[in-house]
Amino acid sequence: MSYFSAVDVITAKRDGGVLSDEAITWILAAYDRGEVAEEQMSALLMAIFFNGLSHAELNTWTDQMIASGERLDLKGLSRPTVDKHSTGGVGDKISLILAPLVAACGAAVPQLSGRGLGHTGGTLDKLESIPGWCAFLSNDEVRDQLETVGAVICAAGQGLAPVDRKLYSLRDVTATVESIPLISSSIMSKKIAEGTHALVLDVKVGRGAFIKTLERARELATTMVGLGTDHGVATVAQLTAMNAPLGRAVGNALEVTESVEVLQGRGPSDVRELTLALASVMVGLVGINVDPAEKLDDGSAYDVYRQMIRAQGGDPDATLPTAAIREFVVSARDGIVQSIDALAVGVSAWRLGAGRARKEDPVSAAAGVMCLVREGEAIVAGQPLFELHADDDAHLQQGKAAIENAVVLDEQLVNSEQLLIERITK
Ligand code: URA
Repeated sequence: MSYFSAVDVITAKRDGGVLSDEAITWILAAYDRGEVAEEQMSALLMAIFFNGLSHAELNTWTDQMIASGERLDLKGLSRPTVDKHSTGGVGDKISLILAPLVAACGAAVPQLSGRGLGHTGGTLDKLESIPGWCAFLSNDEVRDQLETVGAVICAAGQGLAPVDRKLYSLRDVTATVESIPLISSSIMSKKIAEGTHALVLDVKVGRGAFIKTLERARELATTMVGLGTDHGVATVAQLTAMNAPLGRAVGNALEVTESVEVLQGRGPSDVRELTLALASVMVGLVGINVDPAEKLDDGSAYDVYRQMIRAQGGDPDATLPTAAIREFVVSARDGIVQSIDALAVGVSAWRLGAGRARKEDPVSAAAGVMCLVREGEAIVAGQPLFELHADDDAHLQQGKAAIENAVVLDEQLVNSEQLLIERITK
């Protein structure tokens, strides 16, 4: 392999130049081996933050992140594989319903997931509120479960794109997380290494998402769809609104309960609508001609959910943890709900104990927020807006402070917001 000077690579990107394939290959491998200092990689990340990466640079950068680890081999399964990634929202429990639903339609869904950080929840944290459920599977166990059950939700192994973990920690402390090429390569390297044939990306945009504008969401989605397609993964992105929480439940066990309601044909209409929209894209991508609504309504998806939980040691019939303290937050006046601030609700659930500030922090299974009103609803003074769930009073008080101004009231009826914004394909 050619040898480069890290300072020359940083200088080239700082000055708006294009890095050669060899330079990118060298610097990522050398950084992974500990031969490029953290301060040098920090400088390069900041140069990329300001000057971006060209299409070719981004493909090579992503290739090298994939090459830093193993690739899961999902070939030879009797069903086509299709996965989903969400950029993260408040009350986003879609994976819990979607993975078994798409498996019930005939595909295999390898959902290698992460934990929540900050105001957005993590799929593994939610499922870990089910007694006995285990997030850690070997690669062989993932393959076996895909063959027998059709759906797996488990922790992404440490072996997939390991250099991403080092880079992500560094980006976190150097204010370089919010870079489209760095986010895209980080997400897509792990999904490509996972070995799925097809992928749907749920790119959230709005107050409760980490992308706030439609323009940035389109750019992120287009970049990720391009990366997936260039790497042989049939990829489609769905831009979805994340201004209000998705569904009513925000918090780990609360979201599992709501997901089961949707799997049983009940539950909030927005959760059902988004799940079915993503499921239709997923089955379409792998050429399966089945209507997901039928598999949701006839109980097949719920059957697969129960098998999926059992296969990982969980008891789908177990009573989930409940909070020691519950308190209503009531409206101070009459009015029509104009908006419910997803960010405020997400921060409140986090402060109540459902989320974590650092990767190592524990989370409460029971804590969270139930949203009791919807946008467009007419309410009266004294009516409960939220029910807060906490394990102790200190958490309750913090959660309460965060949610005080989450509901905006007016006298006019609002136009209800569109959940599905647009679809991006290559
Ligand atoms: N999720 C990731 O995996 N990486 C990012 O950079 C952002 C979100």
